[in-house]
Amino acid sequence: MRQTPFRIALLVIAILAISLFHYFTPLHLHHIHDIFQRLYYLPIILAALWFGLRGGVGTALAVSIVYAPHILFQWGGQLTVEMEKYLEILLYNVVGFLTGLLAQRERERRVELQRVAEGLEESYRKLQQQSERIIAVEEQLRRAERLSTLGEMAAVLAHEIRNPLGSIRGTAEILRDDYPAGNPKHEFIEIQIRETERLNRVVEDFLRMARPQQSEKKRCSLREELETIVTLTAGSARGAGIELVLEPIEGELPLMGDGEKIRQAFLNILINALQATSAGGRVVITARRTDGRATISFGDSGAGIPGNVLARMFEPFFTTKADGTGLGLAVTKKIIEAHGGTLEVESAPGQGTTVILTLALLPEGT
Ligand SMILES: Nc1ncnc2c1ncn2[C@@H]1O[C@H](COP(=O)(O)OP(=O)(O)OP(=O)(O)O)[C@@H](O)[C@H]1O
Ligand SMILES: [Mg+2]
Repeated sequence: MRQTPFRIALLVIAILAISLFHYFTPLHLHHIHDIFQRLYYLPIILAALWFGLRGGVGTALAVSIVYAPHILFQWGGQLTVEMEKYLEILLYNVVGFLTGLLAQRERERRVELQRVAEGLEESYRKLQQQSERIIAVEEQLRRAERLSTLGEMAAVLAHEIRNPLGSIRGTAEILRDDYPAGNPKHEFIEIQIRETERLNRVVEDFLRMARPQQSEKKRCSLREELETIVTLTAGSARGAGIELVLEPIEGELPLMGDGEKIRQAFLNILINALQATSAGGRVVITARRTDGRATISFGDSGAGIPGNVLARMFEPFFTTKADGTGLGLAVTKKIIEAHGGTLEVESAPGQGTTVILTLALLPEGT
């Protein structure tokens, strides 16, 4: 584009220069006139190549106009005598038209080809992205398969562990009667009972996750469930010096679901938030209705979650806690998704964490 003015100037100069020499060449030097007459093809063809049909025809016309006075006034302009010169003018225009047309077609084809090439490149890029995605999904699938066989085995194992665990706990409780408080062995028995309880909880959690039990869906109130979990944890929050706030909720926020499970899911999130927050910090729960869905958020002023943990925190058994099972969020996610809900986590290290859930609601008052 930038060379357009330069090219036009070159064409104008060429035509003017040829004409100047042409007009000032004495008439008896026929052969020199013949040469100049042919030289006009140069700017015409150049213009056709550079500017296509318009360039070719335009330049041929310009040459015709510049050349005509020479024939008319210097040569006398008689049609029969100067026939060859008139034909030359006709030829200028034919050549300008044809070369212009050809050049234009050529250029159009080039543009077309370029477009095709760009399209191909785009398709290639998409294909590459897609195959990368396929590879990633395959990898996930392989991992899921591995996890699911592992999971099945572990579920059997968990089941087998549960019964002896019951016996251990039972006998420990009997022994406790023999070593009442104050006895030096009492403490050991207490530890035994506490640890079996913990183990039992892990196994229960795990089984709950591994076996999708039929859950009973009833009308329940999100507000009630949230109030319940806040009541349940208020004591330990106070003990840890954390301010636990449930912001006022408008309406019941009723939904169709398994209230017990939903409470369990909320509790897992809230316990994580409390565990992540140190004394003097805050955990705030909000819930509101928007377009038939509830949005519930659990915000904490804890340490936040680094990217590598964020990417894995929903994986079963992923934990950063010494005594964690890593099942809390995996179970939670499963419960929320079984209720057609969504779950996302916003967090930045040092800025706390907010877990946001959405769940479909029933109309208020039903
Ligand atoms: N609010 C939070 N702030 C910071 N980290 C969190 C938060 N919630 C979850 N995490 C991180 O996600 C990990 C997984 O959480 P999850 O609840 O699944 O397991 P857990 O809390 O470690 O163990 P469990 O819940 O079984 O006791 C946690 O170990 C923790 O690192
Ligand atoms: Mg947890």
